[in-house]
Amino acid sequence: MLCAAASAASAQVDDASKVSRGEYIFRAAGCAGCHTDEANNGEFLAGGRALKTSFGVFYTPNITPHPRYGIGRWTDAQFVRALKAGLSPRGRNYYPAFPYVAYAGMRREDVLALKAYLDTVPPVAWKNRSHELPWYLRLRGTLWLWKWRYFDPRGPLSNSRRDPVLARGDYLVNALSHCGECHTPRDRLGGRVEALRHAGTGDGPDGEDVPNITPHRKTGIGTWSEDDLEFYLETGLTPDGDSAGSLMAEVIDNGTRHLSRSDRLAIARYVLSLPPIENAVGAPASAKRREQWDF
Ligand code: HEC
Ligand code: HEC
Repeated sequence: MLCAAASAASAQVDDASKVSRGEYIFRAAGCAGCHTDEANNGEFLAGGRALKTSFGVFYTPNITPHPRYGIGRWTDAQFVRALKAGLSPRGRNYYPAFPYVAYAGMRREDVLALKAYLDTVPPVAWKNRSHELPWYLRLRGTLWLWKWRYFDPRGPLSNSRRDPVLARGDYLVNALSHCGECHTPRDRLGGRVEALRHAGTGDGPDGEDVPNITPHRKTGIGTWSEDDLEFYLETGLTPDGDSAGSLMAEVIDNGTRHLSRSDRLAIARYVLSLPPIENAVGAPASAKRREQWDF
């Protein structure tokens, strides 16, 4: 009897630590930003946020554990398949606006911890809205072709395995925080141009400029130290005293600010160890701001 009670208690502790590990991963992976329609006071994770892309408007789905409107009836295996293979429970392909190209690199146990956390958030009865896409993109069948060309089921890790800090940074940057989903330019079909990975783009989400974060001295962040980058990911302040705007402010607020300092340093060390790529993207935010004062 006693023994059974003790093991039930320790199972509860295990569950609690799995849920808190899952919450940490949830933050690092930035799920909340896309799946909460904050601008319209949407409920937490109930979806409905509009993501404007050059292909049309995607509305994110409800990922609360509501049995009918959310993902409350999904099994662990279905959840793993959605995140790591971009497939719905009915075997349909997801659009890459859901960054499974990055999440494919997530460890299975991390995906399961994430699900354990999601199971604890309040269910919300909010119905999914259809995407607004041209007819030829409404047919999900054609996504097989896209996936064949651009999707690597092993994920985008660059395999810096020798140094454990770099390996952690690689995992955080490429699989979890998907920095490259915004900081890498895309071709006409919306696939990432891997030769310019992290080198920035003038046509990021919502058509915004996303800066080059490779350590190129002129066009990237080659003059930043590891501490500068760690500090930016915590506070949003750049070494010149500017503050992060737009989507990056969200990434910091919902995500990197909540990570441990050692994880932020691992991200910084990994990013600054990338090959520098020369790619000038628009005017840096600071220069734009200055222009407004130059008559
Ligand atoms: C950049 C925005 C973005 C981020 C970040 C994001 N998602 Fe999504 N997610 C989407 C979009 C868009 C879809 C819809 C894809 C489609 O309809 O093909 C989606 C679909 C899903 C689905 C399928 C739901 C269904 O009803 O079929 C699940 C589950 C999901 N996301 C979970 C997550 C989790 C967990 C995270 C964090 C690890 C996450 N998403 C991060 C945009 C995002
Ligand atoms: C949702 C899109 C998105 C994601 C994901 C994202 N970023 Fe950004 N990032 C931006 C945008 C947009 C800016 C420009 C912000 C501004 O104008 O202040 C930016 C700015 C930056 C800057 C400032 C560069 C400069 O020259 O001022 C750094 C450094 C940076 N991001 C690093 C990262 C890292 C590291 C990650 C992953 C942990 C990441 N970003 C994930 C969109 C994103």
